[in-house]
Amino acid sequence: TDTGVRTMTDPQPVPNPRTPETEQPPRTFDGFTFGSATAAYQIEGGAAEGGRTPSIWDTYSHTPGVTEFGDTGDVADDHYHRWPEDVGHIARLGLDAYRLSISWSRVQPGGSGPLNPEGVQFYVDLLDALSAAGVEPVVTLYHWDLPQELEDAGGWPARETAVAFARYARLMAGALGTRVHTWTTLNEPWCSAYLGYASGVHAPGRTEPAAALAAVHHLNLAHGLAVAEIRDVLGADARVSVTLNFHVVRPQDPASQADRDAVGQIEALANGAFTGPMLEGAYPERLLTDTAAVSNFSFVRDGDLALIHQPLTVLGVNYYSTTMVRHSPAGDATSDNSGHRESAHTPWVGADRVAFVREPGPYTAMGWNIAPDALTGLLLDLSRRYPDLPTMVTENGAAFEDTVSPDGRVRDVRRVGYLHDHVAAVAAAREAGADVRGYFAWSLLDNFEWAWGYERRFGIIRVDYDTLERTWKDSARWYQRLLARRELPA
Ligand code: NOJ
Repeated sequence: TDTGVRTMTDPQPVPNPRTPETEQPPRTFDGFTFGSATAAYQIEGGAAEGGRTPSIWDTYSHTPGVTEFGDTGDVADDHYHRWPEDVGHIARLGLDAYRLSISWSRVQPGGSGPLNPEGVQFYVDLLDALSAAGVEPVVTLYHWDLPQELEDAGGWPARETAVAFARYARLMAGALGTRVHTWTTLNEPWCSAYLGYASGVHAPGRTEPAAALAAVHHLNLAHGLAVAEIRDVLGADARVSVTLNFHVVRPQDPASQADRDAVGQIEALANGAFTGPMLEGAYPERLLTDTAAVSNFSFVRDGDLALIHQPLTVLGVNYYSTTMVRHSPAGDATSDNSGHRESAHTPWVGADRVAFVREPGPYTAMGWNIAPDALTGLLLDLSRRYPDLPTMVTENGAAFEDTVSPDGRVRDVRRVGYLHDHVAAVAAAREAGADVRGYFAWSLLDNFEWAWGYERRFGIIRVDYDTLERTWKDSARWYQRLLARRELPA
C-alpha cells in the first residue's frame, strides 16, 4: 500500500525538463551556489511563543477582510517546531545554501532594548544545524515583519525606524556572527514601501503616497546604516548584500517615445529609488521630478546618501515576471489588467500618465507571465551597470495549482518547467559574461503567501495544512538531481 509519504530515496522517475529548441552543450554549474529560500513570517508560526511580540504582519493578517480566507501566520508551516525536519529536507536536497529571514520581534521583542535569548537561541540552533549539514546560511534581517511597536511609533516613514534597524543589525551581527555566511539587510524594500504605505495591500496597510516615499528613503537609510554596523562588528570582509525585486519593464509599443518614457518612469520609481542611493549614491533625477507633486524629499538629510552608498559583496535579485506599460494621458495607473496584485491599487506614486498592460502568457497561478529570457537580460544589464558587483538570484519560482495524485505524488510538471527554464536563463547570462554566483528557488516549502494566504503554493515541498506533513513534489526531486549533477541537460 502507498502511504503517500515520499523521501528522496524513493526511486521515482522525475519528469523530463523541456528540451530547448536548439542543440546546445549541457550547461554546467561548477562553483555555483544552488539554494532555496524562505522567510520567517511565511513559515515559522510560533507567533506568540518564546517571547515573540507581534509584528505588523500579525496585526495586518488578523484584520478582517485583508487576507484571502482570513489566513494568518499564527501557525504557518510550524517551522518553529519542525525546523529539524526541515533542515533534514534541505540536507537531502543537497542545497549548497539556504536563505532564511530573522523575525525581528522574536529576537528583539518590540524592536528595541536587549535581545531575547530564547529568540536568538532558535536561530543559533537552526544555523548550527545548517552548518553541520554543510549548508551556507544566507540570512535576511528584514523580510517585511516590522515589530508592531515601531509601526505605532511611525513605521518606515519615520527616520527613527532606520536607526532602530541599525541597532538590531548590530546586535544580530554580534549574536550570530560567523554562523551567517552572507548577510542581507532588506528583502524587496519596494514592497515594504509601496505595498505597505501606498497601496496598502501589504502590512501595515496604509495608503499615504507621501509616507511611502519617506519609507523608501528610510529603508535605504536602514540598509546603509546596517551594512556599516555589520562590518563594524564582523570586519570589513563580512559578506553583505541586499535583495531587490527588479522590475523588468517593457513598452507596449517599442516604437512609441511616450511608451518608452512610461517605462523610464516606472523604472525610476521601482528600481532606481533603491539602486540609485544604494549603488550609485543618488536618487534618480527622474524620480524626484515625477514625484514632485507628492513629496519634496525633505526627509533626505545631509550625509544620508553617503551613508546609504555602502560597498556590497553581492547583489540579491528576486525575479518572477515582467511588467508592460504604455503612456496613458488619462492616467489609469490604477486600472490593473496585468494580473499583478501590486499594480492593482496605485502603488505607483506619481505615475499618473502610465497604464499597465497585460503581458502575453503563459501565466502562473499568481497571474504572472512567465518570461525566462527577461531574467537573462536583467542579469546582463546589471552586470553592465555594476561590473564590480556580482549578483545572486535570491528568489525565483512559481505558484501553480498542485494536485496530489491518488498515489500521493505531486506531479508539478509546470513548476519543473519554470525552474528549468529560469536556471537555463541564469546559465545563459553567465555564458554571456554576467557574474552570477547563485540561484535560490522560491520556496523550499509551500507557505503563507502574504495577502494571498496559503492558497498560492510556491514550494518544491508540499505542506498539508491539516497535518503539516511535508511531501516532496516532483520539482524537489528534479532540483535534487540538478544539484547532484550540477549540469542542466541540453
Ligand atoms: C517575493 C517575496 O520576497 C516573497 O516573500 C514572496 O512569497 C514571493 N516573492 C512570491 O510572491
